[in-house]
Amino acid sequence: MDIKEKGCVETDNPNHVYPIFDRMMSRADKEELLHQKGLMVWFTGLSGSGKSTIAIALERELHKRGLLCRILDGDNIRSGINNNLGFSAADRVENIRRIAEVGRLFVDTGIITLAAFISPNNDIRKMAASIIGEDDFMEVYVSTPIEECERRDVKGLYAKARRGEIANFTGISAPFEAPEHPALSLDTSVLTLEESVHQLLEKILPKIRK
Ligand code: ADX
Repeated sequence: MDIKEKGCVETDNPNHVYPIFDRMMSRADKEELLHQKGLMVWFTGLSGSGKSTIAIALERELHKRGLLCRILDGDNIRSGINNNLGFSAADRVENIRRIAEVGRLFVDTGIITLAAFISPNNDIRKMAASIIGEDDFMEVYVSTPIEECERRDVKGLYAKARRGEIANFTGISAPFEAPEHPALSLDTSVLTLEESVHQLLEKILPKIRK
């Protein structure tokens, strides 16, 4: 349809943008091609809780089953598209907003998207869910206690945060709010990696098989 026919006058469209979503091939077309359904599996939890490790192992298992995945991970995204953002409350919101918008594009392409971000509070995760779409959003809480994350301290960041060398460090000098109703909670101080992946596959496979 021509723009004039749609009645788009300047005042309705102050930014002069004309999205073409309705003319592109659909999500259903992509899902048909891939023989799978798109889904966002959103891992939230403290730094060092095991989000990335679980996402990496899960991706391998899904890939083995012929399912196409994409991992979006905090440290990766923050070294690329979000390398201009820090860890203030406002920057964390912008971090997650952009990730959710990018994640939506993957889900809309029929891809099983595994997002591993601290995403430290309910409001931030609700924003992500509403951008991606509630029905496509599966929240997984990697609930490993802070004592265990700090004991592991894989990146040495907890020690630095304790010495005051990193400001706003989640769990030490910035808050983390546990999710209220996650689809799944995985405490990696109790579960093996295989057990966590097994629980995830049981939840995910019925949703993504076509
Ligand atoms: S989020 O809070 O905005 O969702 P995100 O998952 O993108 O965080 O990035 C977290 C990663 O950034 C951590 O795993 C850690 O390696 C690194 N990091 C650096 N500074 C901080 C900080 N102040 N708080 C938390 N993580 C930090």
